[in-house]
Amino acid sequence: MSLSREQMLTEMGITPLWVLRDDKAEMPAAVLPEATPSSPTPGVADESPTPAAAPEATGDWPELAAAVAACRLCPLCQQRQQAVLGVGDRQPDWLFIGEGPGAEEDARGEPFVGQAGKLLDNMLAALDIARGNRVYIGNAVKCRPPGNRTPEAAEIAACRPWLERQIALLQPKIIVLLGKTAVHSVLHEDKSLASQRGKRFDHAGIPVVVTYHPAYLLRNLPDKAKAWEDLLFARRLLRAAGGQA
Ligand code: URA
Repeated sequence: MSLSREQMLTEMGITPLWVLRDDKAEMPAAVLPEATPSSPTPGVADESPTPAAAPEATGDWPELAAAVAACRLCPLCQQRQQAVLGVGDRQPDWLFIGEGPGAEEDARGEPFVGQAGKLLDNMLAALDIARGNRVYIGNAVKCRPPGNRTPEAAEIAACRPWLERQIALLQPKIIVLLGKTAVHSVLHEDKSLASQRGKRFDHAGIPVVVTYHPAYLLRNLPDKAKAWEDLLFARRLLRAAGGQA
């Protein structure tokens, strides 16, 4: 069931503070999750791997998807059902980066399909965008951390080359980092999120904005209004970069 705009804004906890422009939301294009069930790489021992950075990733999407599906560079590969590469438009204006797959994402092979994903979809809808249409959604780590724990620094580092390759292939006009793990991965920063909001960072010439992770927002409802401010800031940067917003 699709929500009306008012319902979406209510869901985000931002009514009646914000007035949106009036254009109609575009219909999302068909979206195929880019994940394939993982299987051990032939010849690679299925032991507890010590995290090791992936060699610099250079291939196009099929090579990247295959490499991520077969990746055994860190211990997260051991309990995953599948690696979850990302989903969406491969020529996006927006790239949203979260932390890592949870249980539902691990089962379905698509990022942000649980409760946090519903909030993310509502945030996108409030911006008149939708999963798969000018938007790509990925994660800092591609495999589910057991018990949904925060990925460790070595795991984030092991997965970083895959994320870097995604960014290089996608060439988004704006990157939105959802929470500390994404900030750690892309900006190599470990400061408080609050201190990083409202600033324009840069990654390979692409503007980067930091905001709260949707799962955090579900537990801290008053901060939804701050997240909305962050998204409006990101949209201004996108417009300045010539993107459709
Ligand atoms: N949280 C994330 O950071 N990513 C997902 O894909 C799901 C929940």
